[in-house]
Amino acid sequence: MGLAPVRVEVENHLAMDKFVIRGGNPLLGTIHVSGAKNAALPAMAAALLTEEPVILESIPQVRDIETTRKLLAAMGAEVELGYGRAQHRTTISCRNLASPEASYELVKTMRASTLVLGPLVARCGTARVSLPGGCAIGARPIDLHIKGLERLGATIRQEHGYVEASAKRLKGAEIIFDKITVTGTEDLLMAAALADGETVMQNCAREPEVADLADLLNKMGAQIEGAGTSTIRIKGVAKLHGAKHRIIPDRIEAATFIIAGALTGGDLNVSGCEPAHLGALLQTLEATGVKTKPGKQSVRVMGDNPLKAADMVTEEYPGFPTDVQAQYMALATQAEGTSVITENIFENRFMHAQELLRMGANIKIEGSRAIVRGKTPLSGAAVQASDLRASASLVLAALVAEGETIIDRVYHIDRGYENIEEKLRGVGAQIRRIGEILPKR
Ligand code: EPZ
Repeated sequence: MGLAPVRVEVENHLAMDKFVIRGGNPLLGTIHVSGAKNAALPAMAAALLTEEPVILESIPQVRDIETTRKLLAAMGAEVELGYGRAQHRTTISCRNLASPEASYELVKTMRASTLVLGPLVARCGTARVSLPGGCAIGARPIDLHIKGLERLGATIRQEHGYVEASAKRLKGAEIIFDKITVTGTEDLLMAAALADGETVMQNCAREPEVADLADLLNKMGAQIEGAGTSTIRIKGVAKLHGAKHRIIPDRIEAATFIIAGALTGGDLNVSGCEPAHLGALLQTLEATGVKTKPGKQSVRVMGDNPLKAADMVTEEYPGFPTDVQAQYMALATQAEGTSVITENIFENRFMHAQELLRMGANIKIEGSRAIVRGKTPLSGAAVQASDLRASASLVLAALVAEGETIIDRVYHIDRGYENIEEKLRGVGAQIRRIGEILPKR
């Protein structure tokens, strides 16, 4: 197994790494799932709610975690972050928060930075956070975060691309979300934890990452009931204390690897995951003829059956996750028949289709629906990653394409997948990273 080249980030240059993948190998053996990025991000923000240290384990080594470390450190937090034998652990102490602010520079690279808004208002009585702006998959507004904070008594001002929120002390209230929002639910859960009085939130997101955040907050002394259901009750407390918490496994990474095993006709044991978080995916895969065998903390996937087309609709949890839609589309190109994929969550989340077409797929986009006709042989090509999950779908397609695929801008993948090339090589994929240093424009 060749060693990955040393990646060098030199001053004023950008490491524009690429992946080179040669398709055709079935994935065999055991691949391990890391901690969930989308649980780790709100958990790190929750450390803002106390002056005592918060220790988080099973933190994935991905770029968004590094961005969050920088964001918290810029506010005056002390953030230790260690990987390897140190259990992928971070210790965050927010004793003295000098500037409760999240700059545009940081927020524009990761919109989840808006997760600091609620904790900062609750802890410091003030917050200045850049509006995230859009991103590749859609407008991504945070109007529901802001409306919820106003319900809790915060005064909100928006100018120069920033939202400024202030409140002497937030007051418990009734909040009904107009739309189900994951980070909106998490932001307001953290704000309400320190509010005066009880808050009842309805039409909440039910994602496992919301429940994991509530587990951490309750360990810190919060009084939260109902997280993981659509109605959450929070009895505000005056102070929260430090705690130690292990982040749940990444269900989206697990889903990506399960699809990789199915797509390559392999026999793959995806270990360290939580099968209970994967119900919608496993049910849809069953309809395509893929055999899966859930274990205690693993899922075995056997791709020896020919794939059959099956329609899929993305919904909020526990429905089929929008973050697995692109990966499922790659699978659908290899399934006999027509699969209709409907994206209900984001307005522009089919960018991967263009690249898959260039590899030989037969996909027609009609509004929020993608009509995929299979089975079409895919051929390796030079393709470009556009967002985190679209990039993952290109890796999957490359694993079954004939010949060599070069994927550019893999920094998108590095945002949410820990050492994906090493993990895939470990189960037989022919994938390597080539580092390219380009002058920063
Ligand atoms: C979270 O984003 C995830 N990110 C996303 O994962 C995921 O795709 C998304 O939830 C949906 O499951 C994190 O958890 C860090 P939303 P979030 O608020 O919270 C609209 C990945 O790949 N909306 O649930 O930003 C919004 O436009 C990322 O890891 C409003 O209109 O998503 C969207 O259409 C990508 N106003 C819908 O709600 C608001 O104030 C769901 O968005 C907030 C959201």
